[in-house]
Amino acid sequence: MIRPERPDDADAIHDLTVIAFDPMPFSDGTEAPIVRALRAAGDLTVSLVDEEDGEIIGHVAFSPVTIDGADVGWFGLGPISVRPDHQRRGVGSRLVAAGLDELRARGARGCALIGNPAVYGPMGFVGDDALTYRGLGDGLVQRVVLEGEPVDGELRFADAFEAYEDAHE
Ligand SMILES: CC(C)(COP(=O)(O)OP(=O)(O)OC[C@H]1O[C@@H](n2cnc3c(N)ncnc32)[C@H](O)[C@@H]1OP(=O)(O)O)[C@@H](O)C(=O)NCCC(=O)NCCS
Repeated sequence: MIRPERPDDADAIHDLTVIAFDPMPFSDGTEAPIVRALRAAGDLTVSLVDEEDGEIIGHVAFSPVTIDGADVGWFGLGPISVRPDHQRRGVGSRLVAAGLDELRARGARGCALIGNPAVYGPMGFVGDDALTYRGLGDGLVQRVVLEGEPVDGELRFADAFEAYEDAHE
């Protein structure tokens, strides 16, 4: 069952995020604190969980982004976590689809993310060189247009993400 997070889900989402990212070589362990920081800042615009038999097995967050410094109605996807013993069963795809539906219902114009194209291509995201982020290449910057035309320019994620990126530069 996919549903919006409730206040008492915060710890379960934190633990799930830690468990999901722990084996990932690219992870520096910042994802779980980022979810908490997004929530504290009021930037967790859409936060959905997948609950099975009373346990949260998946979570996805969406927060506002700017492009070339402007709010153009776009959002960023992430972090997204599926419990390792439930991965590759469509949970992540269903969470992403439900989140994009929710964004569309709120009048969002698009959604962007940084991630593995092999994961997000099948979920409808496409690489777009016109959308940039801190000089990243290899198709890692991807987007879905929900309304209107694609946008171009430099992405800036919510402060909770950018604070960690700044600290690592
Ligand atoms: C990434 C993640 C959220 C995907 O969730 P999921 O429930 O496993 O994804 P789905 O089952 O919906 O997969 C949909 C498709 O995405 C692709 N995919 C998913 N995980 C993949 C992986 N690790 N490598 C390559 N392709 C992958 C596949 O095409 C897959 O379809 P298939 O299983 O029929 O081949 C999940 O694996 C996860 O939590 N990973 C650890 C945390 C993480 O890396 N988060 C994302 C950081 S950018």
